Amino acid sequence: MVDALREANTASQSERRETLLTPRFYTTDFEALAKLDISAMEADFEAMLAEFQADYNREHFQRDERFVQQAHQIDPQWRALMLEFLERSCTSEFSGFLLYKEISRRLKATNPLLAECFKAMSRDEARHAGFLNKAMGDYHLGLDLSNLAKQKKYTFFKPKFIFYATYLSEKIGYWRYIAIFRHLERHPENCIHPLFDYFKNWCQDENRHGDFFGLILKSQTELLKGPINRLWVRFFLLSFCLTMYLNDRKPRNLYSALGLDASHYAMEVLRQTNLDSGKVFPLILDLDNPRFVRDLDRCADLNLQLEALLGKSLLARLPVLVALGTAIARLFLLKPVAPPAPEMVR
Ligand SMILES: [Fe+2]
Ligand SMILES: [Fe+2]
Repeated sequence: MVDALREANTASQSERRETLLTPRFYTTDFEALAKLDISAMEADFEAMLAEFQADYNREHFQRDERFVQQAHQIDPQWRALMLEFLERSCTSEFSGFLLYKEISRRLKATNPLLAECFKAMSRDEARHAGFLNKAMGDYHLGLDLSNLAKQKKYTFFKPKFIFYATYLSEKIGYWRYIAIFRHLERHPENCIHPLFDYFKNWCQDENRHGDFFGLILKSQTELLKGPINRLWVRFFLLSFCLTMYLNDRKPRNLYSALGLDASHYAMEVLRQTNLDSGKVFPLILDLDNPRFVRDLDRCADLNLQLEALLGKSLLARLPVLVALGTAIARLFLLKPVAPPAPEMVR
């Protein structure tokens, strides 16, 4: 037991090492955000706010006795992976909470409708982060969230990039959670933690958040027009795709504990998110192109090689870095495709 906890602690601490794949905290140009003109789609934002204020998941996140029981019963081989998942998810939910809360505060006077929407989303993310942190507490390993907020470095993104990134991250969150939920519904014997039972309603929060950012992007038509913006959209789509695929393709991952094939799961989530993003973005990635999948796999392999060389000299890592850079460049240069007609998307 002590060994398992130590192992979990070590895994958790090593995860805290900042890498490109670590969840980040963001800040933005709040003054520019406050000037956002949403008058052309005000009725849609009013409807969105009514959805948020209905607060469908107000009573959803109630813990039961299975959480504590499970903390003692979990197979030691999955314990560290579960903790890693909890810590990572809690950090990104908390990162959303901080950003949305700050935006809501700064927009209160100038743009109350948007401010209220952000306030409702920060309420949801606080709930999600708190729920995950309590699940970590069952292992006596909760995160000190107020300290995390002070110590983390904040990455500045201008509003346009915040919208691209949050839109994608909310949508990818939705597709990840619903895919896990549906899989465990078919294979309840693989449900190693009661947390996953909450994903069905939980992911609807993320879906609504994604729809909200989709609405913002649609209301600011200039953000999606022109060759430069098209390049940025490609860049963000690819960054999210790589981050998820490279993380999920690690040899030992939570998905194997859940009885999922990690590559297949990651590809399915990426396909759905990519198609879904076509409802807003003017282009999507050509994920059906075998060249794309081949280069994506190559990136994941090279990333693993790079991790194995951690602590080695730059010279030792250089060939792998160059190969990884080349594979990423090839992915970026692969021509995107036009989104399918809305009726073709599930
Ligand atoms: Fe969330
Ligand atoms: Fe969210």
